[in-house]
Amino acid sequence: MVKILFICLGNICRSPAADGIMHRLVSQAGLDDQYLIDSAGIGSWHVGQLPDQRMRRHGQRHGYLFNHRARQFKPQDFDRFDLIAVMDHENYHDVSRQARTETDRLKIISMSDYLQHHPGQSTIPDPYYGSDSDFEWVIELLEDACDGLLKQLRANATK
Ligand code: 4NP
Repeated sequence: MVKILFICLGNICRSPAADGIMHRLVSQAGLDDQYLIDSAGIGSWHVGQLPDQRMRRHGQRHGYLFNHRARQFKPQDFDRFDLIAVMDHENYHDVSRQARTETDRLKIISMSDYLQHHPGQSTIPDPYYGSDSDFEWVIELLEDACDGLLKQLRANATK
């Protein structure tokens, strides 16, 4: 079982989208029993809330139902997950600060490192203060990065 926790700032836009996109990819591959997927936020502002209406609406356009309830990341998540997948440099820094050991720190990965079709894109940018096109862009990037990450994990599993 591979346990992946997606992280963003608020846990209402990017990380619940990554969570929903990865769930669908894993299901399509028939691997539901091999992956545990969840998401959390750095901040506590939106705890208990469904994803932002705009992210839900854009997700629906692509056939996704994003219905995660926001929660805040805590250091104990390092014990529960194998990979902590962050969206941008600020997330990386905020999660790294909470790592208690080198083992914790080595679990942190950046989603932009798994992009296959967007060379030079170094973050999954925060769409919160953006427009419709920013939300569409996040979905496009996350579909690419989640697919890249799953391919990498499946390749590692057969080694
Ligand atoms: P997310 O977007 O990190 O992708 O969930 C944000 C959501 C809320 C806020 C910032 C970013 N906020 O400042 O409340």
